[in-house]
Amino acid sequence: MKKLKVGIIGCGRIGSLLEEDPLRGKPCTHAGGFTSVPSVRLVAGCDIEPLRLRQFGKRWGVDRLYADHREMLKRESLDVVCIATWTHLHGKMVLDSVRSGVKGIFCEKPLAADITEARKIVKICAQNKTPLIVNHERRWDPYYQKARDLIRAGKIGEVRTILGNALSWTPAKLPIKLNGGGALFHDGTHLTDLLLYFGGSIDWVSGHEVRPHGKKHIEETASAMIRFKSGALGFIEGGGARNYFNFELDIQGSMGRILIGNGGRELYITRKSGRFTGFEELKQAPFPEPKRLQSPFTGGAKDMVRCIRTGQDSISSGWDGLQALKVIFSVYKSAQLNGKRIRLR
Ligand SMILES: NC(=O)c1ccc[n+]([C@@H]2O[C@H](COP(=O)([O-])OP(=O)(O)OC[C@H]3O[C@@H](n4cnc5c(N)ncnc54)[C@H](O)[C@@H]3O)[C@@H](O)[C@H]2O)c1
Repeated sequence: MKKLKVGIIGCGRIGSLLEEDPLRGKPCTHAGGFTSVPSVRLVAGCDIEPLRLRQFGKRWGVDRLYADHREMLKRESLDVVCIATWTHLHGKMVLDSVRSGVKGIFCEKPLAADITEARKIVKICAQNKTPLIVNHERRWDPYYQKARDLIRAGKIGEVRTILGNALSWTPAKLPIKLNGGGALFHDGTHLTDLLLYFGGSIDWVSGHEVRPHGKKHIEETASAMIRFKSGALGFIEGGGARNYFNFELDIQGSMGRILIGNGGRELYITRKSGRFTGFEELKQAPFPEPKRLQSPFTGGAKDMVRCIRTGQDSISSGWDGLQALKVIFSVYKSAQLNGKRIRLR
């Protein structure tokens, strides 16, 4: 079978440069992910920054290099476009890619800087039957997949509460128009996506925010209480003015609990207490190892190939990315209405 030809727009950190970080598991970029899959060939790159473009070409052995993505789309007859530029550019680049006739689009998160644009690109990709994947990469992480398998198998009973955080430092004063949002938007999109992944559809959210520079600028912190359609509750926080980065979820069921995040994963199961007669307590149990470990970037690239070859949906589709954004923008809306419950449609 012919290899799928891939071009990357945006040869920055997540497109290529993070691959040089000695601490990260590899591959950890789109160039790394796509070149790790044999049925794919990375043939072209595009960046407005000439130095980055040259570095990209040298690093990945790619000589088809462009400063304008429309030029790349016109000349390269690509099968797959990967969009790894700044968030406010995603929408237009997705639309240009659909129009160019590519077979699949792999877009960085967040899908777009505003919800109207996100809805539009998801609709147009669906109308054109062009698979759109959003890089919520934990969906291809074998440990997160294992956690969901455990939940679906009833290992922790009924999910009752999910606590989640994406904590980070105080951001600079940045306009919403270009940046979309603060921590709940940039890192929090992974968090709201995983809430949906583990907890299912959301009924309503009630938000609170700290927005020191006013409504036209991004928030420092946004938090929310969430009610899932299942009846479970969620509590999330993005930002929080910390001096560190932390990302974790605490999924509490009627019979156990799973903690999972950037620091690792733990499983707790209900057992008879050794300390109090007649009580049940949570005891740590080994978190089962997945059958096969692979980088989420390899998993994402393989998912793109699968979607194109089978016509099936991605496990991290544009539609999923849109749902994650709906939660975030509903939290912002609720916060600006003093915590009024906002129902998700
Ligand atoms: N999935 C993740 O965990 C993750 C991690 C980091 C970043 N991201 C997302 O990836 C995107 C890029 O972030 P980054 O940290 O790599 O930023 P970056 O600034 O390092 O890279 C973006 C690149 O896009 C280039 N660019 C800008 N405008 C362009 C245009 N018109 N045509 C071609 N290239 C253009 C820039 O020159 C730059 O090299 C953002 O949407 C961000 O939210 C996701």
